[in-house]
Amino acid sequence: MVASPASWCFAEGDPITAELTAVRRLGGGSAYEAYLAFDEVTYAPVVVKVVRPDQVADEHALRGLVREVQALATVNHPVVVRGLRHDLTSGRPHVVLEHIDGPRLSTLVRRYGPLQEQQYLPLAIELASALHYLRRLGWAHLDVKPSNVIMGAPARLIDLSVARPLADAARTRLIGTDAYMSPEQADPDRYGGPGPASDVWGVCATVFEAVAGYRAFDGPGFPQLDEEPFELPERTPAEVVKILYAGLERRPADRPLPHEVAEALEPVLDRQPAVRLGGFETR
Ligand SMILES: Nc1ncnc2c1ncn2[C@@H]1O[C@H](COP(=O)(O)OP(=O)(O)O)[C@@H](O)[C@H]1O
Ligand SMILES: [Mg+2]
Repeated sequence: MVASPASWCFAEGDPITAELTAVRRLGGGSAYEAYLAFDEVTYAPVVVKVVRPDQVADEHALRGLVREVQALATVNHPVVVRGLRHDLTSGRPHVVLEHIDGPRLSTLVRRYGPLQEQQYLPLAIELASALHYLRRLGWAHLDVKPSNVIMGAPARLIDLSVARPLADAARTRLIGTDAYMSPEQADPDRYGGPGPASDVWGVCATVFEAVAGYRAFDGPGFPQLDEEPFELPERTPAEVVKILYAGLERRPADRPLPHEVAEALEPVLDRQPAVRLGGFETR
């Protein structure tokens, strides 16, 4: 028997399914790959997340895709990516997502450094609105980080691959991304089970990076378990400093609720001078 390869290696023009034509590979996690594709159903670009060929028969990989499909079917918010359809039973189990056009926050910060207040304040308020909604819904994203945010108007949170209901979230350990994990995601024995406050941490760590141009915590292991976050640049407005450090409190109960993050930042945004863009008065 010939072993299946780890990648589909779809190139531009290759059919992924009868209706989906590959444009290019966007990325891939351990269990599946993400492709930009053209979709004959919606007649639009879409993103296809397809289980890797060597894992099509793997229960664990399929369970992950099922979880993502369930999350996409449950979550419905303007700041969160939306699912279009899925096929869990074909030889190429996949989910089809709307394609969100724009750079990832991680790419912007890497290329151009810190964001302007006019960019990071709406970003933070929009992400806070998504978290407020998720909390009400009883779900946690658990992987909020700059590479899972696509910058646009509004910004959009992608990658529901580890999102789950709060009861399940509370039982997780080390689910997420090391550098952006809340203390309770990294060490639930010490800080209690992950939940909505873990996403508040994720948003504050994400916005911190947008404001500063560097991470709140850096280094091997989990510096967020024992160290204090780095200083924010001196130019940072006091309200921003206060709410970001509050969101990075080690104990989940000490962190603000999502709507409190938005409330703290709205007055700062209101102080921003309006910018003229394309003839419209906008920020
Ligand atoms: N809906 C989308 N619109 C645009 N780009 C996307 C979308 N979903 C994923 N991507 C791109 O594909 C990459 C991988 O997808 P993601 O959902 O983050 O999966 P994972 O990080 O688990 O591999 C993302 O970092 C992003 O660049
Ligand atoms: Mg991702």
